Amino acid sequence: QIEGDLALDQTYIAEADIQARLRELAAEIARDYEGEDLLLVGVLRGAVMVMADLARALDRDVEMDWMAVSSYGSGTTSSGVVRILKDLDSDLTGRHVLIVEDIIDSGLTLSWLTTNLRSRKPASVEICTLLRKPEALKMVVDVKYVGFDIPNAFVVGYGLDYDERYRNLRDIATLAPHVYA
Ligand code: PRP
Ligand code: MN
Ligand code: MG
Repeated sequence: QIEGDLALDQTYIAEADIQARLRELAAEIARDYEGEDLLLVGVLRGAVMVMADLARALDRDVEMDWMAVSSYGSGTTSSGVVRILKDLDSDLTGRHVLIVEDIIDSGLTLSWLTTNLRSRKPASVEICTLLRKPEALKMVVDVKYVGFDIPNAFVVGYGLDYDERYRNLRDIATLAPHVYA
């Protein structure tokens, strides 16, 4: 799929490996939440692919809701402030909430989001992310389900974008350094 695109370097995690790992996580999640209702909260827009495939890999009924958040400031450095662009439609009171993300980079988004959702009196809030970068380990983000720990490379595909491109790539690929250098 990346053949011929000069902006892409190489396949980093192939479609089949993503799907296999999601099936493992789904089995774990299904076991942990057995007999409980479960609300998956996807973070727009990066999490759409993970949400769609994880939800279908869960062999049970779940609800899905969505949030859109944005870090204040521009560029690649986060300011530490997050604002809600689109809030959940669901009331979280007494619910088991599982946040679904594509990637934890600095950890800022999820550290803020879990605090925010926990203030809404849910029964529980946990996190499932497909990817996690080492930087995130410096933040206080307690992540229950992690697909892959990856080094600090610029990755795109499977929901992850570079300037809004490459989200629909089925694999996760590294971006060629000349693109963002
Ligand atoms: C990306 C990614 C995570 C967040 C992780 O979203 O999808 O939500 O950044 O970064 P952090 O751990 O440093 O906070 P982005 O803000 O690019 O929006 P998008 O999902 O629409 O691409
Ligand atoms: Mn995102
Ligand atoms: Mg993005």
